[in-house]
Amino acid sequence: MTGSDQIVERKDDEIRSPSRPRTGPTVVAIAPGRVNLIGDHTDYTGGLVMPMAVDLATTITGTPGGDWVQLSSEQEAVATRVPLTVDDASAATPAWGRYIAGVVAVLHPSIGFSGHVSSTVPYAAGLSSSAALEVALALALGFSGSPLELAQLCQRAENLGSGVPSGIMDQLASAAGVEGHALLIDCFTFEVTPCPLPDGEVEVIVIHSGQERTLWESAYAERTMQCAQAEQAIGGPLRTASISEVDGIPDPIVRARALHVVTENARVRSFATALQAGEWRAAGALMVESHQSLRNDYEVSTPALDQLVSLLMVAPGVHGARLTGAGFGGCVVALCEPGALDPESFDQAWRVRPSAGARLL
Ligand code: GLA
Repeated sequence: MTGSDQIVERKDDEIRSPSRPRTGPTVVAIAPGRVNLIGDHTDYTGGLVMPMAVDLATTITGTPGGDWVQLSSEQEAVATRVPLTVDDASAATPAWGRYIAGVVAVLHPSIGFSGHVSSTVPYAAGLSSSAALEVALALALGFSGSPLELAQLCQRAENLGSGVPSGIMDQLASAAGVEGHALLIDCFTFEVTPCPLPDGEVEVIVIHSGQERTLWESAYAERTMQCAQAEQAIGGPLRTASISEVDGIPDPIVRARALHVVTENARVRSFATALQAGEWRAAGALMVESHQSLRNDYEVSTPALDQLVSLLMVAPGVHGARLTGAGFGGCVVALCEPGALDPESFDQAWRVRPSAGARLL
């Protein structure tokens, strides 16, 4: 998708906003959430990740006009109203308005927007509800450019709104999703390589641990600092570091964080090879190793996530499972034989399919 080949079809009927004049045609923008199959806590050091956009998405429907970006939401009790000039996006209220303010602060739209947000992406579950919101909003506000440019803009919006130095994975997966494919992303070159996940051969199930979390309440920023310390100790990027360089890091905690990153990058590479060969069991085994590394070396798992992964590892037809996203709560992702797991048998679980990226409808 590029700015010129995005399909822009604006409907003639206008929605009514109680406080806004009816100023233009209705805009409908949709952006998917994502699940990460493998490669967590590697994007902010320019490493490798393998997410897929999912068929859970955020839709913004509204009308351009006025001097404010004002949005109501099915999921939120209080609507948000952001002026076109934003000083501090992280100070916006209610809390979900931080992401709206972040997008407005980086996109600088010349006119406002009144609309409504509806979403099937669960909030604070690690499925990138905030990225889906930012990406859908940027499109609704008239962004035009490549999926990478859209993702970069929305990553800056997320960083400003949340105050957390998160990487580009979530926004790029939402912007650049490809139907039927996971995305191997090199977060240094931004090269995106779609890898097929054939329907009927393999299935992806996401299961909520029951623990909600937001990045700004987590130790995410501390982990990014520990990676920076590791790079300082090594004298070069973690992206190209060897295990023997990692072994030489004096601080044991920083060393363990670096070990996760270096081994995780290698696992993503092997995972991509396994997917291309249709070796689902080998791919699943790498997911379990990734979980163990995130638990032991990166220390972002929780007892609830560990318990779910243990349960899934012994379930027939499950190739592998791991926590997905930042951790500290949220969801587990499982790669399975079709029909092996019934989402209905968990409190909150979804069978997700690799989906196309964000677009205007
Ligand atoms: C969050 C961040 C991403 C990435 C993951 C961990 O989802 O937004 O940039 O760092 O955590 O892999």
